[in-house]
Amino acid sequence: MSSPGVVSERFFYRRPVHANVTVQFPADRNDDLSIRPAKRADLLAVVRIENASFPQPWPHEAFERFLGEPGFLVAVSDGAVVGYVVGDVVSNVGRQLGHIKDVAVHPDRRGNGVGSALLSRSIPVLAAHGADSVKLEVRESNDGAKHLYRKFGFEPLRRVPDYYDGEDAIVMIRKLE
Ligand SMILES: CC(C)(COP(=O)(O)OP(=O)(O)OC[C@H]1O[C@@H](n2cnc3c(N)ncnc32)[C@H](O)[C@@H]1OP(=O)(O)O)[C@@H](O)C(=O)NCCC(=O)NCCS
Repeated sequence: MSSPGVVSERFFYRRPVHANVTVQFPADRNDDLSIRPAKRADLLAVVRIENASFPQPWPHEAFERFLGEPGFLVAVSDGAVVGYVVGDVVSNVGRQLGHIKDVAVHPDRRGNGVGSALLSRSIPVLAAHGADSVKLEVRESNDGAKHLYRKFGFEPLRRVPDYYDGEDAIVMIRKLE
């Protein structure tokens, strides 16, 4: 998860590139799971999940700024938002860098493939909007998230000391080409 202070980058639209990692999802509880772009009506549920997931949650306004952007996706099950991912693509020294800024699943729905489903959709969306690689930050102690990211081909790139107000972040990256 990245700081909400850096959510103002814009998207860049370019060629489609397809992700090449195949992931199996647990079949139970996810039969009706769908992943779609976030809408304003989803924000309350998104913020509730955010508050239940992080010690320093993004505020409502941070999510509001991403409405309409293709990298803001929600996972919906039985009509309820059960998770979300926020990502974008920014121009960086002549390259298009995808950035997964935030991802969380409702505490009651974790461990059932929702996080995997969100990343499975998010990475191709970022690729389709020009990203040639995707990066993210994760708390050093967040073994669950690191496991998930490794499963999707992300590798540790560098450490950012004290990124999370007392805890280091590990920057992980996955090349898409
Ligand atoms: C990280 C998170 C998004 C994963 O979502 P999820 O729906 O539980 O993930 P999945 O069910 O798709 O699991 C994906 C993989 O990650 C692993 N994993 C997920 N949470 C884990 C945990 N707490 N400990 C160990 N492994 C974990 C699973 O074992 C699974 O791997 P496997 O298929 O090889 O068993 C979810 O746990 C969450 O919302 N955590 C709180 C917010 C957070 O930390 N977000 C990441 C910020 S960088």
